[in-house]
Amino acid sequence: MRKNVLVLGGAGFIGLNITQYLAENRDYDLTIADNFARGKQDDYFTGLVNKYHIKVIEGDFTDTATFKLLASRYDQVYMLASVVGVDNANSIPHEIIRINTALIYNTLEWIRHSQIGKVLFTSTSECYAGTIEAFGYITPTPEEVPLCIQDIGHPRFTYAVTKMLGESGFLNYARVLGFETTIVRYHNVYGPRMGFKHVIPHLVIRFRKKEEPFKVYGHDQTRAFCYITDAVEGTVLAMEKPNTNGEIYHIGTQQEISIDELIRYTGKLMDFTGTFENAPTYPGSVSRRCPDITKAKKQLGYLPKVSWKEGLKETIEWYNQYLESGKLVYE
Ligand SMILES: NC(=O)c1ccc[n+]([C@@H]2O[C@H](COP(=O)([O-])OP(=O)(O)OC[C@H]3O[C@@H](n4cnc5c(N)ncnc54)[C@H](O)[C@@H]3O)[C@@H](O)[C@H]2O)c1
Repeated sequence: MRKNVLVLGGAGFIGLNITQYLAENRDYDLTIADNFARGKQDDYFTGLVNKYHIKVIEGDFTDTATFKLLASRYDQVYMLASVVGVDNANSIPHEIIRINTALIYNTLEWIRHSQIGKVLFTSTSECYAGTIEAFGYITPTPEEVPLCIQDIGHPRFTYAVTKMLGESGFLNYARVLGFETTIVRYHNVYGPRMGFKHVIPHLVIRFRKKEEPFKVYGHDQTRAFCYITDAVEGTVLAMEKPNTNGEIYHIGTQQEISIDELIRYTGKLMDFTGTFENAPTYPGSVSRRCPDITKAKKQLGYLPKVSWKEGLKETIEWYNQYLESGKLVYE
């Protein structure tokens, strides 16, 4: 029987890439549900949904009435709808709490009254950023580290608080109500069409403006960046592999690099010939981050393939082309 699959938050960066992957590689009935908070349906989006007859439901899912637009039975639900990003957390922390909490709670209560096979909830490495800083846990960090908020009043951590609620909510509702659930914790996913609020598009814009000297904020911090195609494959494996109910998986890579390396290589790809100057980073930003992905490798067969240099090149080319032509079309 054809699977009926819902991607909640499916117009977003990762959601649309998951939808595209499923459309191109599976024979499923696909539905995207989103409020298009990141912008209107562009030509790429409409090209993809028209080609594969993907159903699109537009609405604000913080409102319980919007859930009436959905079907009452789905085999798989990818739950990605969320307000994301450090800028949003710092500027509208109250909205992060309101919107993300409502999205999680409304989805859980909708599941109670629907027939849902399995739900995948998307969480974040931010949930244990505090653990690493306060207790010096090992890096690469495995899934079983305790989750920790270092400064409960800091706006930056509102996002992680809502993701912890989501992890606990989905795991416990699933156990009691009898649906399956799996959690993925993403680590710095990047790639074309990720918006303009992430570090890599910020860098592209700053290099295009020929900033001089070029400030290297948080130069000695480390991150492990995960290219979007690898993140999508890991996510779909976490949804589709048997015996993953109740499990949490890191989706990322173990190619840990410094921000200095990232910025200097981006500069090289952007033909920057000026000078660099080290500068301090955002408050609350963790000094080292790299996931241990052994569990996902062993249990899911997850194997990220794209090196950070290759992925960065693809991403920079996409942003330069987008900024010059204004649009890209799905063909
Ligand atoms: N990109 C990363 O590196 C990363 C890292 C950790 C976790 N995550 C998580 O993965 C998921 C997807 O992230 P992304 O980078 O694609 O973000 P994104 O902002 O591109 O996608 C989120 C989507 O949710 C939708 N949405 C927001 N509020 C909504 C509402 N009220 N009703 C309906 N839809 C709503 C947005 O319109 C958007 O399309 C998020 O839950 C995010 O927290 C992402």
